[in-house]
Amino acid sequence: MKVAIDGPAGSGKGTISSILAKKCSLTYIDTGVTYRCVALKVIEKGIDLDDKDAIIDIASKIDIKFMSDGVTYLDGKDVSSKIRSKEVTSIVSPISSIPKVREYMVELQRNMANSEDVIMEGRDITTVVLPDADYKFYLDASIGERAKRRYIQNQEKGINMSLEEIKSSIETRDYNDMHKEVGALKRTDNQIYIDTSNLTIDEVVDSIRKVIGR
Ligand code: DC
Repeated sequence: MKVAIDGPAGSGKGTISSILAKKCSLTYIDTGVTYRCVALKVIEKGIDLDDKDAIIDIASKIDIKFMSDGVTYLDGKDVSSKIRSKEVTSIVSPISSIPKVREYMVELQRNMANSEDVIMEGRDITTVVLPDADYKFYLDASIGERAKRRYIQNQEKGINMSLEEIKSSIETRDYNDMHKEVGALKRTDNQIYIDTSNLTIDEVVDSIRKVIGR
């Protein structure tokens, strides 16, 4: 079974997908992590954002391992916290806009989904990565609600950003993510649209379980 979920930052995709994965015996794949790993390497190597060739070169050779407990290894090192930093978050959307970077990441993501029952979330999963998925969802929420959720998550992870800073970072990323030349976040007729603004996590999980029958 392949379940594909797209939606903007803070729409609840990550939280919902990881709960569904446990309850429905699916492997959870957070595709944003692949772009975040490229962004982290760009920072660590001191590469300029205008140097597209160097960024593409990093994407072509990236060594990422997802563990079942949600830990991410990049070149053999645990980078689970580093990839959520403010610095990575501020450059990940422009990096993910480079078409050739996307080609490499889409290939990697499809390989991850190949031999398992998966729930995969991102921005172009229902449209590009797994267009033939058994079930396709688009999760959404108001900007105020999404900023509030990300603020609480950041507090828990020790990431220090004000609510206003988060709101403006999400708005900039939304715009970039929806206006990419390739792999833009889009709503289509064959996704099931869920506005999670006024729903509890359990309510969203239950409504998806009813659809997928698990
Ligand atoms: O879901 P996230 O916030 O961790 O994603 C980080 C960035 O990666 C986001 O700004 C958009 C990009 N992304 C993408 O372009 N395509 C995906 N399938 C997943 C994420």
